[in-house]
Amino acid sequence: MIEYPPVDKMNDEQRISIVKNIFASVTDKYDFLNRFLSGRRDVVWRKRTVREMKFFKTHRFLDVATGTGDLALDCANTYEKVKVTGVDFVQAMVDKGVEKVSMQKLVERVELKWGDATQLEIDNNSFDVSAIAFGIRNIPDKIKALNEMKRVIVEKGQVMVLELTTPEPGFWRSIYSFYLNGVLPKLAKLFTNNPAAYEYLADSIMNFPTRKEFIFLMESIGLKNCKTIPLTFGICTLYIGEKQD
Ligand SMILES: C[S@@+](CC[C@H](N)C(=O)[O-])C[C@H]1O[C@@H](n2cnc3c(N)ncnc32)[C@H](O)[C@@H]1O
Repeated sequence: MIEYPPVDKMNDEQRISIVKNIFASVTDKYDFLNRFLSGRRDVVWRKRTVREMKFFKTHRFLDVATGTGDLALDCANTYEKVKVTGVDFVQAMVDKGVEKVSMQKLVERVELKWGDATQLEIDNNSFDVSAIAFGIRNIPDKIKALNEMKRVIVEKGQVMVLELTTPEPGFWRSIYSFYLNGVLPKLAKLFTNNPAAYEYLADSIMNFPTRKEFIFLMESIGLKNCKTIPLTFGICTLYIGEKQD
């Protein structure tokens, strides 16, 4: 039985290796568990993110920590002229995504490949939009990843971060905390051979910066007009910032 240390006790290297281990171990059930455990809210949240995207120069979108490619595919299916690149540092997740791209006959416009969010092998100013969905929480050096996402977009382009967050203290936060820590790992146990992955999930959400703190991070790297869009009672938040040199 796998056990992971609490998030606030992991050092950065340990966390990166645990994250790789977790996603390599849940790949097969990843899409199903996302839909099931979020009551299909994850689909709605990604669609909302895609609706906020603006394509005006390169008509290209970069999906960072693309996983099995859901955001990349959503974008390509919504904007017929946009070309999409997705990168992830767990090859098993990328492979699953590549299967989905080919099943949806989008190989001409969607390329998924191995890549590290903190060291993108991509030229400056290549995309109109870069986004990361449910990925930044797992990256210890968030500033480095955000800087990379900013570097690869054009001026006036958008950096978007979609992430699970906690509602403001009060009734909904208590309910949510009970679901995350009490119910979710037990449900996950029924379907995966690595239930500890879902204990890590709960822990990582509870340890994620507040909305105010995260906006501060985005502003600290020079992103402008930063805003938050809380979704579903604030259990998810879409952050958007613009690059203006
Ligand atoms: C919760 S999944 C999200 C996947 C996808 N974006 C989605 O919307 O379902 C998090 C993903 O982030 C990836 N990841 C975490 N740290 C990364 C890094 N430094 N570089 C690239 N991918 C990373 C993991 O491999 C995993 O596939």
